[in-house]
Amino acid sequence: MSYAILEKKELAPNTVMMQISAPLAVKKMRPGQFIIVRVTSNGERIPLSISGWDADKGTVRIIVQAAGRTSTELINLKVGDSITDVVGPLGQASHIEKYGTCILIGGGYGTGAIIPIARELKALGNKVISIVGARTKDLVLMENELKTVCDSVEVSTNDGSAGIKGLVTDVLAGILKNEPVHMVTAIGPVPMMKAVSEMTRPLNIRTYVSLNAIMVDGTGMCGSCRVEVGGATKFACVDGPDFDGHQVNFDELVYRQKMYVPYEKKASELYACKAGCH
Ligand SMILES: Cc1cc2nc3c(=O)[nH]c(=O)nc-3n(C[C@H](O)[C@H](O)[C@H](O)COP(=O)(O)OP(=O)(O)OC[C@H]3O[C@@H](n4cnc5c(N)ncnc54)[C@H](O)[C@@H]3O)c2cc1C
Ligand code: FES
Repeated sequence: MSYAILEKKELAPNTVMMQISAPLAVKKMRPGQFIIVRVTSNGERIPLSISGWDADKGTVRIIVQAAGRTSTELINLKVGDSITDVVGPLGQASHIEKYGTCILIGGGYGTGAIIPIARELKALGNKVISIVGARTKDLVLMENELKTVCDSVEVSTNDGSAGIKGLVTDVLAGILKNEPVHMVTAIGPVPMMKAVSEMTRPLNIRTYVSLNAIMVDGTGMCGSCRVEVGGATKFACVDGPDFDGHQVNFDELVYRQKMYVPYEKKASELYACKAGCH
């Protein structure tokens, strides 16, 4: 089976959107799920959130941010190239129901993942407000598309070059002061998801986070994506990736994410050399 890249667009430095042909995988996709791809036959597997799909065309859309060797290999491919494997959809779908007012918060590639969730929440009659955070204006992703599926979209940047100057939690604090909120979902860097969960905890607002634990098989067999939620061991790939943010042991997640850093650095250096540094 060939998983061809049908479309590619640079959204920000080192961040691209790709439409990939994967007709079998798209058949049962739900918001909040992910796929695992292998770029080459001897490459590693990496999990990527689903940011959209078209069941008729058999295409899945991903937003990829170059973090290390494999994600860089992927974003270096061109339209017409193919990747070796697409496995999915994996994981549980997001908790989508009629809540009332929902706030969806995206950081980095997580902004892509909130789009299908926003669309379904809106279709059920919820009021959907999204907050997109980035370091600077050029890194704000998907703002225009989010506007088409949300009631409103707020932006925050660290340097104030777009939206309000500050963090997504500053925007969230402002909204929480002004209106009742019934559900919050945050997808992005771990410190952001932790800060959002701490902010909503005292207000007892249902809060979901999508855990980016290190994954290998994506089927609950290898144990690498182990996370502690509510004092119990869960596997992010099969029990998640969405979990109750008030129950997650974020410190353990950060610790486990750092386990392979020396090996990841070595793999990146070797790939950069192979790609032509000397
Ligand atoms: C459910 C899920 C959904 C994801 N969705 C997306 C997405 O839509 N777009 C996107 O660009 N990235 C996504 N990621 C993160 C992506 O999988 C990692 O960036 C990728 O695996 C890094 O591989 P690498 O070889 O390029 O980098 P490596 O050199 O292996 O690692 C570079 C950095 O990425 C971190 N990392 C490595 N593996 C993972 C992993 N499995 N999960 C999270 N962080 C990791 C490392 O801790 C390190 O800091 C997702 C991760 C998960 C678990
Ligand atoms: S990735 Fe192997 S158990 Fe989750």
